[in-house]
Amino acid sequence: MMRAAVLSGLGGWLPPRVVTNDDLPAELDTSDHWIRSRTGIACRHFAKPGSATSDLAVEAGARALASSGEPHADAVVVATTTPDRICPATAPEVATRLGLAGAAAFDLNAVCTGFMYGLACAAGMVATGVADRVLLIGAETYSSILDPLDRGTAPIFGDGAGAVVLRAGDPGEPGAIGHVDLGSDGSGAELIRADGGGSRQRLSEGPEREGEQYLRMDGREVFKHAVMRMTASGRTVLERAGRSAADVDRLVAHQANIRIVHQLADELRIGRDRVVTNIDRVGNTAAASIPLALLHGVADGAVRPGQQTLLTAFGAGLTWGSTLLTWPDLVLCD
Ligand code: UT7
Repeated sequence: MMRAAVLSGLGGWLPPRVVTNDDLPAELDTSDHWIRSRTGIACRHFAKPGSATSDLAVEAGARALASSGEPHADAVVVATTTPDRICPATAPEVATRLGLAGAAAFDLNAVCTGFMYGLACAAGMVATGVADRVLLIGAETYSSILDPLDRGTAPIFGDGAGAVVLRAGDPGEPGAIGHVDLGSDGSGAELIRADGGGSRQRLSEGPEREGEQYLRMDGREVFKHAVMRMTASGRTVLERAGRSAADVDRLVAHQANIRIVHQLADELRIGRDRVVTNIDRVGNTAAASIPLALLHGVADGAVRPGQQTLLTAFGAGLTWGSTLLTWPDLVLCD
């Protein structure tokens, strides 16, 4: 029989510092009312200075391993836009700090779609026998690339990490990763970007280059793409799985903006009562968004074993990806 990757552990971690809308700098000229009504966000977590993505990833990874009941993995994938350093990758250090030295370890960057790309990679590694157990972590420290005075991004993004363990199992088991849809469109690369420090826009000193390290986003344009791309990708995966929107018990979409998630649900004809969301408490945590939404959904009782669960994400690149799975019975660990 064919091997499949089966979800067997889930964990996450948020840095303790909570920043409410009212805590944001007054110079942003925004308000709690605007942010809540236009995005659904009430607060986000920011890592303290000196704390890096690997620190969040280790906390989330340890909890996912504990949740899976076994402390080992033979591959560690860290999906992140905000690695500790340009070189080396963050994953080897994370693996070693988790007691997994010797495991295959690499970073993956598909921005807010990173977790979905990571899931496809991890599932492929398990299915082909490259690995028997993969720890996949989506971890971000967006506070390190946010312009604190840009109201188009500063209120939107937050820090956090979410992780899953995938083990070898059977395609028919709950939690088995089956059909996955992934896509990209590089013609939209300018819509969300952080130029500084790359090979094209080398970081240099001087006032004219000030701010080039920060994330910039054409929010209005990105909004339209997010709804359109996640709708198409969600439909594709449902079609491949031989399912319809009526079969979907829970929609867990990238937590970019509650209005995006609701429009997506409407387009897919999935009732808003089947939408899982935690954006009010974490904001947009990019590659950590889907696993953190799953974690909070399971903890709150919104995501339950046996439910047909549609995961879909969209991010800079542009990139997008979706999968449908039967939610497995998982034990969460603090
Ligand atoms: O994770 C990757 C994918 N990211 C996303 O999917 C994010 C997608 N975009 C969004 O979520 C939304 O576009 C934003 C939340 C970023 C912005 O919301 P919007 O409803 O699209 O606002 P807008 O940019 O169309 O601006 C509407 C108005 C403007 O004022 P005028 O020109 O109508 O007078 C903005 O200047 O709202 C103003 N505005 C704000 N006002 C108070 C924009 N940002 C803010 C703010 N506080 N933070």
